[in-house]
Amino acid sequence: MNKKIKKILKKKKDDKIVCLTAYSKSYAKILDKYCDIILVGDSMANVLYGMDNTHQIKLEQIIQHGVSVKKGIKKSLLVIDMPKGSYNTISQAKKNAKTIISKTKCDAVKIESNKKNYKIISELVKFKVPVMGHVGFTPQFKKRFRVEGRNKREMEKLINESVLIEKAGAFSIVLECVTPSTAKIITNILKIPTIGIGSSSYCDGQILVTDDMIGLSGFYPKFVKKYTNVNTTIEKAVKRYSKDVKSKKFPKNVNFLYGK
Ligand code: KIV
Repeated sequence: MNKKIKKILKKKKDDKIVCLTAYSKSYAKILDKYCDIILVGDSMANVLYGMDNTHQIKLEQIIQHGVSVKKGIKKSLLVIDMPKGSYNTISQAKKNAKTIISKTKCDAVKIESNKKNYKIISELVKFKVPVMGHVGFTPQFKKRFRVEGRNKREMEKLINESVLIEKAGAFSIVLECVTPSTAKIITNILKIPTIGIGSSSYCDGQILVTDDMIGLSGFYPKFVKKYTNVNTTIEKAVKRYSKDVKSKKFPKNVNFLYGK
């Protein structure tokens, strides 16, 4: 097993797992110092490309960003989202996962659950592709955002789904927007680590979309804690630049730059 994955599995007992998303080398370089896992998420559809959902992001786009992110990573585990429609059948999933791994040199792929694709996960794992699962609010398959696990029936379904994903061989699982009590039960039952997003501190680790937590994306679900406001920082810089250009303060003609 990949050494980095072994380390993540060990953390289930010992430590919290720190995860964030990145779509480029410059972000990855910063995140790598503090994160255990960096995810090239298909959230890039909304965050970077301004799309309404994650459905149109293409394999080639995910790969391109994955290649960039990999350049900024020295130690973290790199996970790449398989885009919607790229893992509909076992053979398609194998072919595309292999392409993602060979082109980006990532450590694992993430697959959203549609409650039917356990066999895809198990076949990928047999094919030596490490897989991270994803249950709860799974944007590739759900139209409407809602918290899941709010009644006994929903809770049992989510627990069952998570157990089947573990049985299929996933090395960890994202719990997106599930109730704290559901997250607690799943985290206690599973041997693999749970990574929460809007799913309480009961999870073994946490993930957020980096652009949300730095205040750049403009989309801030209730569970997001904004650690800074990069939007304001950029705006201030752009405003000063605009003023300088208009008032001819920038650029300054520095002769040594031109060999005079
Ligand atoms: O695409 C993504 O960024 C994700 C995280 C929100 C878990 O799947």
